[in-house]
Amino acid sequence: MQAYELLHAEGYLVMKKGAGTFIATNAAAHSPVGLREEKIEPALYDFRHGVPSWDAFPMDRWQKAFQDACRMATPEILGYGPAEGSEALRQEIARLLRSTRSIPAVPERIIITAGATQAIDIISRLFLQRGHQVIVEDPSHTVLRGIFSFSGGEVISVPVDEEGLCVQDIENSIAEQSGGKAAVKLIYVTPSHQFPAGMTMSQQRRAELLDYARQKEAYIIEDDYDSEYRYIGQKTTALAGLDSSDRVIYVGSFSKSLFPALRIGYVVLPASLIESFLAIKCITSRMTPALEQEALARFIRSGQYARHVNQMSKLYSGRRSCLVQSLAQCFQDRARTYGDEAGLHLLIQLKTPVKEEAIADKAIQSGLKIYPARDYFVASKPESASFLLGYANLTEHQIRTGIELFAEAEECCRREKGLL
Ligand SMILES: Cc1ncc(COP(=O)(O)O)c(C=O)c1O
Repeated sequence: MQAYELLHAEGYLVMKKGAGTFIATNAAAHSPVGLREEKIEPALYDFRHGVPSWDAFPMDRWQKAFQDACRMATPEILGYGPAEGSEALRQEIARLLRSTRSIPAVPERIIITAGATQAIDIISRLFLQRGHQVIVEDPSHTVLRGIFSFSGGEVISVPVDEEGLCVQDIENSIAEQSGGKAAVKLIYVTPSHQFPAGMTMSQQRRAELLDYARQKEAYIIEDDYDSEYRYIGQKTTALAGLDSSDRVIYVGSFSKSLFPALRIGYVVLPASLIESFLAIKCITSRMTPALEQEALARFIRSGQYARHVNQMSKLYSGRRSCLVQSLAQCFQDRARTYGDEAGLHLLIQLKTPVKEEAIADKAIQSGLKIYPARDYFVASKPESASFLLGYANLTEHQIRTGIELFAEAEECCRREKGLL
């Protein structure tokens, strides 16, 4: 009985008088299925995306910052500190955002979170109840879509083109996917480097999106997950830097610029949302580990963070060029790449009629891991095999050999299908 009551209280069961107990029709939306990652087996050539370079991480300097943070820790720092995070770190982030992203950020509007993931989770809990809609780019990250639907929101997928989110298609998409009952609360976008397709949102689209959000009184989540790295063209001002009506919630992360296991990200909020965001953070996790925050504040203040990002930018730029050249040499006109101007990955679409899984399975036999991109697409799946290739954590030698193996695996699959 207790189990039934609990499931009922959580919305998984509906009890109908005289008829019995039934599984709620939207119960599936509460269970994020298939998002647990499989155990990651090491491979010689692993093109996993979203991970920075390990070999070039300045562990000695990070260790020094961490030791200093431990040595200087006060009882206040080691206790139940403020949910909004370290004052020192929030000041450093505000400075970084003003100088590198043209966002007029002040520490009072910044809250430290366990990565961008927690920031987006709390925003979802804050805004989305059943019947509320969140506009999400299509394609987009499966985990992000999972967070939104887990909060009970209705995810409306809206296509992107070479200029980013097709703002003019939002209303049509709502009508098609939700019968037109619009209660748009949130719009999730990755304007600097669309995930996973890689385009940068045009100025025109940015203006249209800000206009749309203003009209609908919706908030835009700007996920700026890898904006530190741009190799071609100018860095664009963040959407939050163009927003004059407090409609943008800016989310940043140190997962790509330092390392994901640090679990430090942050959110820059309109003043009206701070109290309720903090209330949710307080009851769900309260704090982000304090010593890491103090160490990071020191690391930024000493100039080592900027130096590291600068050095990684040069390193990744070389790795990126090597990848683009290797793909051109090995695949010639049998593939097209997207989104290689920025970030730590690119998207490749093959023009041959061979299945992604077949190529990925063949590749693994020679120590190569490549990651199919199909699941990121919702409404219109790519017509042919597509992969997301991360290159930050591979040497140029590994990239060249890996891409040769990739092309061999693809050729082998074509031969087996009788296409050669
Ligand atoms: C588009 C996008 N947003 C957010 C994240 C999550 O970042 P974090 O590690 O800060 O939670 C990722 C991670 O890869 C991502 O690809």
